[in-house]
Amino acid sequence: MAKKTVLVSGGAGYIGSHVTVELINAGYDVVVADNMSNCDMTCFEGVKKITGRDDIPFELMDCCDTAKVQDLFGRYKIDAVIHFAAFKAVGESVAQPIKYYRNNLDSFLNILDASIAHGGCNVLFSSSATVYGETDKLPVTEESPRQSATSPYGNTKQICEDILRDVIKASAAYGTEVNAGASAQGPVKGIALRYFNPIGAHPSALIGELPRGVPNNLVPFITQTAIGKRACLSIFGNDYPTPDGTCLRDYIDIVDLAKAHVAAVSRMLDGKMKKDYEIFNVGTGRPVSVSELVNAFEKVNGLKLNYKYVDRRPGDVVAIWADTRLANEELGWKAERTVEETLASAWAWEKHIAGIE
Ligand code: WQD
Repeated sequence: MAKKTVLVSGGAGYIGSHVTVELINAGYDVVVADNMSNCDMTCFEGVKKITGRDDIPFELMDCCDTAKVQDLFGRYKIDAVIHFAAFKAVGESVAQPIKYYRNNLDSFLNILDASIAHGGCNVLFSSSATVYGETDKLPVTEESPRQSATSPYGNTKQICEDILRDVIKASAAYGTEVNAGASAQGPVKGIALRYFNPIGAHPSALIGELPRGVPNNLVPFITQTAIGKRACLSIFGNDYPTPDGTCLRDYIDIVDLAKAHVAAVSRMLDGKMKKDYEIFNVGTGRPVSVSELVNAFEKVNGLKLNYKYVDRRPGDVVAIWADTRLANEELGWKAERTVEETLASAWAWEKHIAGIE
């Protein structure tokens, strides 16, 4: 059987590069499209080394460019798309909402329109547990209500989920003649994966997270503090109503997360979907506090981290973790790496980019 081709938009970034590796390991052909707005070639080069594949097609392009996206779909026979190409800094999105709405919505609309125009497609959208907001009904299932987004970034995730749902619904109800541009053709099916907190790096330490400037997220801040790029980690709040007073999150290993994408793509391509639009939580199902994570990092890597407790960060939810049963049962996928293994991989990657090991 001919190999299926998966387009990975944003494939040179943190999550996209790990997903590209796992797709290739699973026997798919991959086309990577990226405008390099938030990364350099480090991870794509790493992907080539890990997979031993020097011939992975790379398209330097912005998915907000309608003509270029149409052209791309004309040049490759794309069987499925995984759409990562989006901005993701919560704080920046509050300051620059138009930039976020324009980029995150336009790029997705272009991908959907081109997919339909070229015979229909299976679309995997990279969504976020941020759509659940603050809730005391934990763990959250896919049926848990979404709540008003607290940032334009979070809102773009909700809106893109809704766009995908509506496009799929219209495709099933009316065919695609009325569902897209003039050359509308094929049907659309899709899956939204709601990620919890992706952390860590590939065990090879050849790909990982490359934050620009001061990291917003916890684990890159920890590793940068450990290596001496940052003087001290601030732990935001130790007076939350949790066992140790710090927030609880569901930290999901990046390779496990990448494997969930392969399971979801295979489900779409092998005709195993139960509905045309499906949603899955991608997490471990285990809550871990900020203090626990810091302690685990120190222990597994045998070092002491400079940290202090400071005020709460505005906008943080107290606790969120996933009910993973649906993903476990339907995708046949389960998070496997321990948080210690993941934190060891994050540290190995930080040392790799610092040129230490
Ligand atoms: C985790 C915990 C912080 C930094 C965000 C987005 C989400 C998703 C992932 C993005 C919290 C605490 C953090 C620090 C700290 N999307 N913390 N000191 O906020 O759960 O989720 O990132 O790409 O949509 O909202 O992740 O890593 O920022 O924070 O104490 O320097 O670590 O307060 O409790 P978050 P995070």
